[in-house]
Amino acid sequence: MGKTPSKLILAGCLALTACFAGKAFAADKKWGQYQVEDRRSGYTFAAPETRAMQDDNFQNPGMLWAEIGEELWEKTEGEAGKACASCHNGPETMKGVAVSYPKYVAEKKNLENLEQRINRCRTDNMKAKPWKYESKELLGMTVFVRNQSLGMPMNVKVDGEYAPFFEKGKAFYEQRRGQLDLACKHCHEDFEGGQLRANILSQGQGNGFPVYRLKWSGVGSLHRRFRGCNKQVRSKPYGYGSDEYLALELYVMWRGRGLPVETPAVRN
Ligand code: HEC
Ligand code: HEC
Repeated sequence: MGKTPSKLILAGCLALTACFAGKAFAADKKWGQYQVEDRRSGYTFAAPETRAMQDDNFQNPGMLWAEIGEELWEKTEGEAGKACASCHNGPETMKGVAVSYPKYVAEKKNLENLEQRINRCRTDNMKAKPWKYESKELLGMTVFVRNQSLGMPMNVKVDGEYAPFFEKGKAFYEQRRGQLDLACKHCHEDFEGGQLRANILSQGQGNGFPVYRLKWSGVGSLHRRFRGCNKQVRSKPYGYGSDEYLALELYVMWRGRGLPVETPAVRN
C-alpha cells in the first residue's frame, strides 16, 4: 500500500524516461470480433499499417512460420518413424484445439501449454527429441496449430483442477515487482490506452500469440513477451515453460476469454 499506482507509474516513467499520455482511443469504439465487452485485443491498439499487415495473409510475415509448421507436420522423425500427420491426419484435425490451452494434465499434476503438448507428442508418440523453446520448429508448429483455430473465441477452463493455477496466475498478475515496483495490472489495466515510450499500452492480451513483432523482426512466444515485460520493470524473468508462466498464461488467456485466436498476430 502507501504509494498510489499513479505515483508508481510516474516513478516508472522517470526511470524509463517514458511518458504516459491520456487515453488514445475512445473506449466506445466498436472493433467487431476484436472486442468482447470491455476486453480488447492488442489488434485494436495497433497502428493501422500494423493491422493491415495482419489482415493480409500474403503480407503477414508471421505466415512464414505457419509454413514452417505445415512442412514439419508431414515430416517423419524419431525412432517410431512417425510424422504428426501419421496420427492426426490433416491439420484440420487441430481446428478448435488452441482455444482451451493451457490445459490441466493429470499425470503431470500441472498445466501444459500448446508448445509443451506438441513436444509431448514428439517425445512420447514419435520418440523424437523435443524442440527447444523459441526454435523456429517449435514456434512454427505452434503458429501452424493455433492458426487452424483462427477467429475462434478463446475459452480456457478455470474451475476444478484449474482453480489453484488460476489463483496463482492472478496473484502473479497483481504482484508489484522489480525496481519500478509495478504489476502487470498497473500497465495493462490501469493505464490501458496510455503511452509508454513508442508504445500504446494495450490490455496485454494473449490471443494473438505467438506473434510476429516488428521489433523482434520475427515471431516469439507468449513467454518471451512475459520475460520482456518482467525485464521492463527490472524484475527477474522466469524460465520458458516455468510453472510461474504457465499459471500466468492461464490467467492471461482467461482475461481474454471470448477474444478470437489471431495467431500469427502482428504487433509493434
Ligand atoms: C503416434 C501418434 C501421434 C503422433 C505421431 C503425434 N501425435 Fe499428437 N496426439 C496423439 C494422441 C494419441 C493425442 C491425444 C489425443 C486426445 O487427447 O484426444 C495427441 C494430442 C495432440 C494434441 C492435443 C490435442 C488437443 O485436443 O488438445 C496436439 C496439439 C498434438 N497432438 C499435436 C501433434 C503434433 C504437432 C505432432 C507432430 C510434431 C503430433 N501431435 C504427433 C498422437 C500422436
Ligand atoms: C511498465 C509497463 C508494463 C508492465 C508492468 C507490463 N507490461 Fe506487458 N507490455 C508493455 C508494453 C509497453 C507492451 C507493448 C504494447 C502493448 O501491447 O501494451 C506490452 C505488451 C504485452 C503483451 C502483448 C500484447 C499483444 O497484444 O501483443 C502481453 C501479453 C503482456 N504485455 C503481458 C504482460 C504481463 C503478463 C505482465 C506482468 C508480468 C506485463 N505485461 C507487465 C508494458 C508493460
